[in-house]
Amino acid sequence: MEKIVINGGHRLRGEVAISGAKNAAVALVAATILCDEPCVIENLPEISDIAICLRIFKAMGADVQIINKHTIRFDTTRIREPKVPYELARSMRASSYFLGTLLGRFHEAYVPLPGGCDLGDRPIDQHLKAFSVLGATDDIQNGCVHVKADALVGGQIFFDFNTVGGTMNAIFAAVKAQGLTIIENAAKEPHIVDLANFLNSMGADIRGAGTDVIKIRGVEYLKGITYAVIPDQIEAGTYMVAAAASRGDVLITNVIPKHLESITAKLRTIGVSVEEFDESVRVCATDGLFIKTNIKTMPHPGFPTDMQPQMSTLLTLAEGTSTVVDDIFDNRFRYASELRRMSADIQVKGTVATITGVKRLTGAPVRATDLRAGAAMVIAGLAAEGTTEISDIYHIERGYEGIVEKLSALGADIKKVYVPSDDELAVSV
Ligand code: EPZ
Repeated sequence: MEKIVINGGHRLRGEVAISGAKNAAVALVAATILCDEPCVIENLPEISDIAICLRIFKAMGADVQIINKHTIRFDTTRIREPKVPYELARSMRASSYFLGTLLGRFHEAYVPLPGGCDLGDRPIDQHLKAFSVLGATDDIQNGCVHVKADALVGGQIFFDFNTVGGTMNAIFAAVKAQGLTIIENAAKEPHIVDLANFLNSMGADIRGAGTDVIKIRGVEYLKGITYAVIPDQIEAGTYMVAAAASRGDVLITNVIPKHLESITAKLRTIGVSVEEFDESVRVCATDGLFIKTNIKTMPHPGFPTDMQPQMSTLLTLAEGTSTVVDDIFDNRFRYASELRRMSADIQVKGTVATITGVKRLTGAPVRATDLRAGAAMVIAGLAAEGTTEISDIYHIERGYEGIVEKLSALGADIKKVYVPSDDELAVSV
């Protein structure tokens, strides 16, 4: 089993470049199923969720050519069956995107119920509602969702609440449907806009992405293009918080500062210096106290739920008591018990965390309970006195390209080590 081991107390200094956005990349890769020609995607992050997508594509008969570690050519024209292999797809949430893309192209799809981070119940009722508006029926059999439509005809989709995945899947299913589709109460995240730009570059007709109302006129043909994924808003935010928590001074490059506005605002409220440039931000916290701050996560452009564990970790070192509300998911505070092992004072009731600042965190053996919780453990380890060992790091590797290398280059004492599990040790005796 691999672990990340951090000896804390080293200020991060220097420059780090942000990779392509995971939550945009998984949608763009799935969207190549709708393309009638081969296409090339650049600035893909080298993370395990993308690796799983590539294995799924190969299993389905698509041609995938690795041009370099961030650039891949996709030719999905040879996919014949709208079926996704069970074991591969059930490990990530983004596998739900194969529902919308296969339905949009074949008018049918068999996809395992999606997996992904355990943040509580994560149903797909809104996704299925969108498909039914366009004329599809659905049923769940043998752990798979089966959707089918004789024809896909545009209609008005009104989501009960903001859903990123639901909005993505509605776009996938509508982009080649007959006539006009209107998506009301659409999610507005940067990765929704990136998907719309990607598909429009192929010849789709999608207007309003990034607003509450998205209008899509179906088209018959999508041509091959070359397209670069936007920078990762959450990876950038994670390094901003890591710089602050380590009392460092870091220039974070290859970012879109506008995507980071809510994170920048909160860091400044906490007392962290954030300077914005055209394509980079500089975060400095070499002195001064962290000030208690309340946070409530909201859909974009509000404070992102995917930054909640990281920011909560910083608040464990703030003067006074902060409150963090994250009711976008049923349970996104599973990491709190791990932080308490590191001397944090964090109590959780339902979807509200109460955090009282402590003078210092102390290193401990902890677990990554999900992707962003794992990032929070890394941040805590960087700030803590002593050594922190993080297990279950496969969660972290789903969404952070080269996190150990990037932090080492910033001066962190961090490494990935192989630790035989108890079973392996028993066998070796
Ligand atoms: C996407 O998940 C992201 N994943 C998540 O990022 C992110 O936390 C989330 O959006 C919110 O921004 C990917 O993009 C691959 P939702 P998604 O649909 O699409 C409920 C990360 O760390 N809901 O906006 O699953 C749902 O249970 C990951 O990068 C329904 O009830 O999020 C949740 O409580 C974690 N029914 C809330 O809505 C539905 O049909 C928001 O979910 C759909 C969603």
